[in-house]
Amino acid sequence: MRPILLIIILLAACLPASAQSAHERAARMGLGMNFSYLENWWLGKKEKGYSDLTSAGAAKKKEAEFAKIARAGFKTVRIPINFGAWASLEKPYRWTSPEGLDIAGRFVKAALDAGLIAIVDLHHVEMDRSVKAADSTDRVAWIWKEIASRYKDLDPERVLFEIRNEPHDIEAGAWRKQAEAVIKTIREVAPKHTMVVGFHDWNSRQAMIDSKPFDDGNIIYTFHYYDPFIFTHQGATWAGPGLPDLKQVPFPANGNAIRVPDKARGTWIAERIGNYREDSDAVKMFDDLKAAKTWSEKHKVPIFLGEFGSFGKYAKLADRCRHAEAVYSALGRLNIPSAWWEWDAGFSMYDEGTTKIAPCMQKAIDLFTIADQ
Ligand code: BGC
Repeated sequence: MRPILLIIILLAACLPASAQSAHERAARMGLGMNFSYLENWWLGKKEKGYSDLTSAGAAKKKEAEFAKIARAGFKTVRIPINFGAWASLEKPYRWTSPEGLDIAGRFVKAALDAGLIAIVDLHHVEMDRSVKAADSTDRVAWIWKEIASRYKDLDPERVLFEIRNEPHDIEAGAWRKQAEAVIKTIREVAPKHTMVVGFHDWNSRQAMIDSKPFDDGNIIYTFHYYDPFIFTHQGATWAGPGLPDLKQVPFPANGNAIRVPDKARGTWIAERIGNYREDSDAVKMFDDLKAAKTWSEKHKVPIFLGEFGSFGKYAKLADRCRHAEAVYSALGRLNIPSAWWEWDAGFSMYDEGTTKIAPCMQKAIDLFTIADQ
């Protein structure tokens, strides 16, 4: 063999997994679902650092759900996992509750056995935010070094690493530094796996649009879209002032005034209530998602909508389905892969009182494929 040819072959072999992989993998993700459970730190006890958030019985039952997600037609599952709950807070870091890791491993395996693409998502590493060091760059990087080592032999075509869900209370620049450190750590251990990376401000769409991609070519960029927030989060106790008391917000706006809950007066929630007619317009929502797509095209990087959905506590199913239709049809037209939040808890697509996807939700899901053709 001519030496120059040999050098080219050797150089090609040394190249990191190409940007092409990220594009191809994103193109295969299609319809996805979030499988919440292993991120629920609040199921554990504070004095145990929430490490006891899982129970063996519940985890076993949950494992069976992956096959159901696949049977429902989803191609991808995003698995939010609070790996931080099982690791020490101080250096030298170590796993304090490895049982949680075993359950996480079983979930990933169950997803792969069901034929799904699995996104291993480090979720809520900051937990209740009472311990500042919980989400330090050193700790997050240590967690990823360990997790990537555990999963590095799993098929890179079907296992992706999402470095951190919804970083918040962190400036854009500080997040960028943390993300760069984590990306580098993972890349050293797992050269071929695609990473899923979002930006500060809760993985917001705007934060992504305001940011630049990272140097690593094998990344799918993610953002979350819960607009219009006063519709998707009416009744939510964790998401904003007055939301727990917000009820009967229809989708889209129907001309009736929405009462501003006392606790929401003068806040951003009141502002969103005032803007609800515009915010719930499907054309405006399409334009929002189009702006994300335009960012991806400008930078020639693939994107993935990692979370969207609506809380079912007060929102009526018919309204939730109309909202899902608006988002799914836009995603189909723009060809953006996505994952609905969430499979079998408060944001689920189930018909009331059942564990079956409601027919009007199925109609909304189908719009993704129809619009994509
Ligand atoms: C959080 C969940 C929450 C959902 C909708 C997710 O990122 O982890 O706890 O229910 O967003 O607000």
